[in-house]
Amino acid sequence: MLTLDPPSHPNPYPSYANLRQHGGLHYLEAPGLWVASDAATVAEAFEQPACHVRPHEEPVPATIADGPAGELFGRLMRMNEGEAHQAPRRFLMPFLNALDDEEIARLTRYRLSASDVPAPSDAMFRVPVMVIAALLGCPPEHEAWLAAQTSRFVAGLNPLGTSVQREAAHRAAEALMATVSRFETLPTRAQGTLAPDILVANLIGLLSQTHDATAGLIGNAMLALHARPSLRDALAHRPEGVATMIEEVERHDPPVHSTQRFVAASCQLGDTWLKPGDTVLVLTASANRDAALTPDADHFRLERRQRISFSFGAGRHHCPGRRLALGIATHVITGLLERREYVNTLHHQGYLPSRHGRIPRLTSTQEEHA
Ligand code: HEM
Repeated sequence: MLTLDPPSHPNPYPSYANLRQHGGLHYLEAPGLWVASDAATVAEAFEQPACHVRPHEEPVPATIADGPAGELFGRLMRMNEGEAHQAPRRFLMPFLNALDDEEIARLTRYRLSASDVPAPSDAMFRVPVMVIAALLGCPPEHEAWLAAQTSRFVAGLNPLGTSVQREAAHRAAEALMATVSRFETLPTRAQGTLAPDILVANLIGLLSQTHDATAGLIGNAMLALHARPSLRDALAHRPEGVATMIEEVERHDPPVHSTQRFVAASCQLGDTWLKPGDTVLVLTASANRDAALTPDADHFRLERRQRISFSFGAGRHHCPGRRLALGIATHVITGLLERREYVNTLHHQGYLPSRHGRIPRLTSTQEEHA
């Protein structure tokens, strides 16, 4: 019987490879869902109009539906189809596309420089969210507060979270909506195109989408360097190679391993017919290692003629934050490599519990709390 290890498993990749060998969709009885694990089926799932991001009967998870966190969730483009998805995306894509790489670098390096030896959790979670907050027009004195509230909101959305975390997420959602609605530049530009509550929710969405995924990318990049002392030394002398290393980390050991699709109308993926109510786990981390697209896919290699990755999704919901996430991670890692012994001092204590994310728990023997 085929099994699927969770992304928090020390090495889930052999279980992905077993599934991938069978190709197409495979039904797993225990979670009761279909799994798409090869590149062709993953790409098809992302393009299929009848495969939606939320189940029809539960647009907002029941665990948070009654309260401000649920209200906010229900307005996110990430969690909607049709015009509720397209309208915020139409407004925010040009804003995100226009962000300047130099500005992203400057904001990241400045926030990382608050501490000589940043705690890994600050470098992973706090710095990226503070950078996004700054780009959205948050006054500098509120950035750390905003990052802390984002963290509470995100923890309450995790289906593996506790009732205490969910209650904290409602309070954080309230606080975030009140604060972000006072940001000036973007709401002024959105007037007449987007309702204020939709804009505010989707700006908070940018902060919350950044939180875990970018943390996982930075954490997995730290682990890749920890395991490869010669790469660490080479990049310390040649920091212009860090961007390529980050791209290989996001292909080879990505922070997001999967996403889900909920079948809204009968449709076909590969040779399998799906019916309304079926759920598909789209195993992007497995598709990244599909030999049909990537030679020597199981190996971490900086030199690749073409790097094909599904880590940022594809199709109509593909991630609009890819360039930002890669830019922030590149400058965080470059800054940490300049702190010569930093990567040597890391301790890895497994991964945070998550159904879709691979985010390492890291501590440093030298850490200072800013
Ligand atoms: C390494 C970091 C990141 C990874 C791996 C990642 C991955 C993804 C993936 C896989 C999706 C598609 C989900 C699906 O189709 O079910 C997605 C969507 C999204 N991401 Fe990211 N993301 C990252 C960082 C960011 C950042 C920094 C932002 C904010 C600027 C962001 C904003 C979004 C938004 C708003 C969506 C929803 C798009 C839509 O529904 O049209 N992400 N991301």
